[in-house]
Amino acid sequence: MTLTYSSYLHLPQLLELQRPRSEPPEHDEMLFIVIHQVYELWFKLVLHEADKVKRDFSTNDLYGASATWKRLRTILKTLVGQLDILETMTPLSFASFRDRLDTASGFQSFQFREIEFAFGYKRAQVSGSIPEHEGRRAVAERRLHERSVMDHFYDFLGQRSVRVPPELFTKDVTQPTQPSEPLQDELLRVYHEQPELVILFELMTDFDEGFQEWRYRHIKLVERTIGAKRGTGGSPGIEFLKQSLWKPLFPDLWAIRHRM
Ligand code: HEM
Repeated sequence: MTLTYSSYLHLPQLLELQRPRSEPPEHDEMLFIVIHQVYELWFKLVLHEADKVKRDFSTNDLYGASATWKRLRTILKTLVGQLDILETMTPLSFASFRDRLDTASGFQSFQFREIEFAFGYKRAQVSGSIPEHEGRRAVAERRLHERSVMDHFYDFLGQRSVRVPPELFTKDVTQPTQPSEPLQDELLRVYHEQPELVILFELMTDFDEGFQEWRYRHIKLVERTIGAKRGTGGSPGIEFLKQSLWKPLFPDLWAIRHRM
């Protein structure tokens, strides 16, 4: 059979996957489903690119890594921008079908956890929010035990005459990235001496800023849509989400700014 646009993209299957649960139908539930599915597709690509950037770092491929960070930070801009569309849904409209979500919540997004872990924001306790019976908790936990993008970044720096503190290569990889003052001194030196790396560092900072921006905008979306209600995932809602607000993925790239 000739390959067509539709068959290549498996469009009949894809377009079958939006199944609102409200009865009688609530108009905005379709938006709610489509937007979450689109997010999950972008999350899939973010993970795909994260795996590539790890390889680029470990093989000392500056141009490959920079190109991928450029793509990653651009995806983040789209992820943040899409929240505007969901904010066209009023609190009353969401309330009309929220009960249909039962305990389903973005809290259970195994790909979001994979992203956090892949970029070094490791918090073992949150993998418990992924329903075990769906078999995807193990996937996120595998990422928890893998070296993060940041660990591969240390490999890269080591190949670029940066004196990476040896303990960063032997640390427990299941722990979140910790700031390192000796590394910050080295990064500061690189900012002055190796301009080709500065472009890379700034692209990584763009991505990090984009991730923090997403968290902020998601909290504001939650606040304007459900206020102080508890989350469908069972957390206190906004207070839980605030714990991750302003926490950088790459703390060393932020910590040196006042010294420049
Ligand atoms: C009306 C829209 C939304 C509301 C009211 C909402 C509400 C919430 C709440 C209350 C939480 C805390 C966990 C819990 O459920 O107890 C949460 C977590 C989360 N939501 Fe949303 N959300 C909305 C839209 C979205 C969208 C569009 C995404 C995109 C994927 C998303 C992804 C997430 C993720 C990944 C978490 C976990 C965050 C973390 O652990 O730091 N949410 N959401």
